[in-house]
Amino acid sequence: MAKLRTQVGIIGAGPAGLTLAHLLHLQGIESIVLERHTREYVETRVRAGVLEQGTVDILCESGVGDRLKREGLQHQGVELRFDGQGRRIDFQDLVGKSITVYAQQEVVKDLIAARLGYRAPIYFEAEALRLENDANAPRIHYQHHGENHEITCDFIAGCDGFHGICRSAVPEGQLQIHERHYPFAWLGILARVPPAAHELIYNYHERGFALLSMRSPEVSRLYLQCAPEENIENWSDDRIWQELRTRMATREGFALTDGPIFQKGITPMRSFVVSPMQFGRLFLLGDAAHIVPPTGAKGLNLAVADVRVLMRGMVEFYKNRNQEALRQFTDRCLRRVWKCQRFSGWMTSMLHRFPNEDSFSHHIHLAELDYVTSSRAASIALAENYVGLPFDTPGLF
Ligand code: FAD
Ligand code: PHB
Repeated sequence: MAKLRTQVGIIGAGPAGLTLAHLLHLQGIESIVLERHTREYVETRVRAGVLEQGTVDILCESGVGDRLKREGLQHQGVELRFDGQGRRIDFQDLVGKSITVYAQQEVVKDLIAARLGYRAPIYFEAEALRLENDANAPRIHYQHHGENHEITCDFIAGCDGFHGICRSAVPEGQLQIHERHYPFAWLGILARVPPAAHELIYNYHERGFALLSMRSPEVSRLYLQCAPEENIENWSDDRIWQELRTRMATREGFALTDGPIFQKGITPMRSFVVSPMQFGRLFLLGDAAHIVPPTGAKGLNLAVADVRVLMRGMVEFYKNRNQEALRQFTDRCLRRVWKCQRFSGWMTSMLHRFPNEDSFSHHIHLAELDYVTSSRAASIALAENYVGLPFDTPGLF
C-alpha cells in the first residue's frame, strides 16, 4: 500500500478537478488528482459546449488556451426561434461580450496534457473509496489497479461530479439539499454535417424544445426535449431529423440538412444545490455541489467559477496563512450558483413545454419570447447572464 502526502487531494478529473489542479500548480501549491475512469474515457465523454468569456479568459491566461483560441468558435449572439420566426440576441451590441463553442472534452484534453507536461501527479483508474475528514490531516483511501492506497493532505477537493462519494462524506444533517426535477429530458446527438446556422438556435415549439449547436464547421450538436423515461431505441435517425425539422421550421422555409448521427444519448434535467459546499477540510466543487438544467449552458462554467474561488482561498492560506477566504468559500460560490440557477430555470421554463399545458400557457411562452427579443432591457438581461456574470472580485484570473 502506497502512503502519499500532498497539499490538496483532488477527487475527479472533470473540468473542476483538472482546472483546480492546474491553477494551484501555477501558484506553487501541490496536488494529486484521482480519477476513477481511464484517460481515454474522460477525454471522449461528450458533454458541454458553451464557454463563457470569463471561463475562456481563465483558461487562456493560465496558459492552456492555445488550441481553444485556434479551434474554438467565437459567437457574438444566439437566436431564439418561436412561432416560425427567428430573433437574434446580439451579445456584442447588448453587453460587449461573446461566448466560445469548444467541447468540454477538448478542455479536459488540454488540461490533462498540461498536467502531464509538467509531470504533476494524476492517476487514472484510481477510485476514491472513503474519506477521513480529520481536522488536521484529512485522508483519502483509494484503489488503483486493484490495490488499496491512501493520501494524507491539508485539504480535500471533492470534484467528483453529481454521483461521486465526497458529498456523502459530510455527516447527515449537516447539508441542506435544494432540488427541483423537471418532467422532461434532452435527447442529444452529434452528427457529421455542417451546422445549419453559424450561431446557436434555441427553439420553442408546441411539440417541445429543440436546440441547434455545433462542435466544429463539420459537426453539428442537436438536442430535442423528450420524456424523461424515453427509450433511445425508439428514436431512429429519421425520426430525430424529422422532429428537429418540425420544431425548427420557419415561415421562410429553414432547411436542416441531415447527416450521419454518430452519438446519441438522453440526459435527465434537474436543478440541485447543496449548502454548505464545505465541511471541515473538505470542499465540494462543480457538479458535486450543484446541477443546473443545461438550457442556460452554465454547468461547466459554474464549476470553473467555484475553482477560481477555492484557488484564491488556498493562495491566501498558503502564502499569507489567512483562512478567511477559505471560510467564505460557500457564500462566495453560492451567490453565483443561485443566480445561475435562476437564469437556467427561467430559460428552461420559457423554452420547454410542460405536460398538460393549455393554449393559455402556449400564448404566455410566445409573449415572453416576443418580449425578451423585442425589449432592449429584457434582451440585455438575457445576454449578460448568458455570456456570464462578472466575477465578484478582480484580478488573479
Ligand atoms: P464531472 O465532469 O462530472 O467530473 C467528475 C469526475 O469525477 C468524473 O470524471 C468522474 O469519473 C470522477 N469521479 C467520480 N467519482 C469518483 C471517485 N470516487 N474517485 C475518483 N474519481 C471519481 N455546462 C456548460 O457550462 N455549458 C454547456 O453547454 C453544457 N451542456 C451540457 C450538456 C449536457 C448534455 C450535459 C450532460 C451537461 C452539460 N453541461 C454544460 C454541464 C457540464 O457538463 C457539467 O456541469 C460539468 O461536467 C461539471 O464538471 P465537474 O468537473 O464538476 O464534474
Ligand atoms: C452544447 O453545445 O452542447 C450546448 C449548447 C448550449 C446549451 C447546452 C448545450 O444550452
